[in-house]
Amino acid sequence: MQIIIIEEYPKMSQQAARFIAQKILAKPNLVLALPTGNTPLGLYCELVRMFKEGLIDFSKVTVFNLDEYLGLPPQHPQSFRSYMHKYFWDHVNLRPESCYIPLSLPENPEAECYRYEQLIASYGGLDLAVLGIGENGHIAFNEPGTPWESLTHIVKLSPETRAREASKFRGLDKVPTHAITMGIKTIMNAREILLLASGEEKALALSRSLKGPITPETPASILQLHPNLTIIADNLAARHL
Ligand code: GLP
Repeated sequence: MQIIIIEEYPKMSQQAARFIAQKILAKPNLVLALPTGNTPLGLYCELVRMFKEGLIDFSKVTVFNLDEYLGLPPQHPQSFRSYMHKYFWDHVNLRPESCYIPLSLPENPEAECYRYEQLIASYGGLDLAVLGIGENGHIAFNEPGTPWESLTHIVKLSPETRAREASKFRGLDKVPTHAITMGIKTIMNAREILLLASGEEKALALSRSLKGPITPETPASILQLHPNLTIIADNLAARHL
């Protein structure tokens, strides 16, 4: 495990973007898993800037989003699909057919999970999974208690996770109750993992995940067993490490 602590968020995002750029240079047809949330906003901004400066070519890259809410129309402003269009996909030369995210209104949600998992497998699996972390140690939408063996599946969102999103949705009752997420096993099968953490509110989750017992109660703690894990954190998130 390699832990890189950077004093502030903008530099942390820069470091993360350079990390990804290096991987794409080494393997132009990289298969990436990407997160949403506040943490990676700076990363996407930096990747777009590097693309516009001619430093990165995404034309052969494939991206899979980690997760998506269930029950929202795809064009809903809070869907993760909208987020990805807004902050990343629409500003770089990724081919639209190489940008994957689970359907938010699938006819058959179980079949959608299977289809997504098969799709990832059809690309030979993930080269690099980029992750954020929830305050309760969740990764993607794998909430505490998720079995280590889980593949892409449907989750019931925890009350904490829903409460945290309530302001974005203008009311707790409007926050979706379920989501589709890559499972712990899907993520652990990635050949490399980059975990990003920023801000004081992530400090406990991060130290528990990296230094505490490996337990499903802290989903990110399984990352301790990944052979190729890098953590990029700012000072605030790393304060208990
Ligand atoms: C959501 C996402 C995760 C993300 C987490 C933390 O639950 N599904 O992928 O890592 O939120 O988000 P933030 O970066 O906004 O703290």
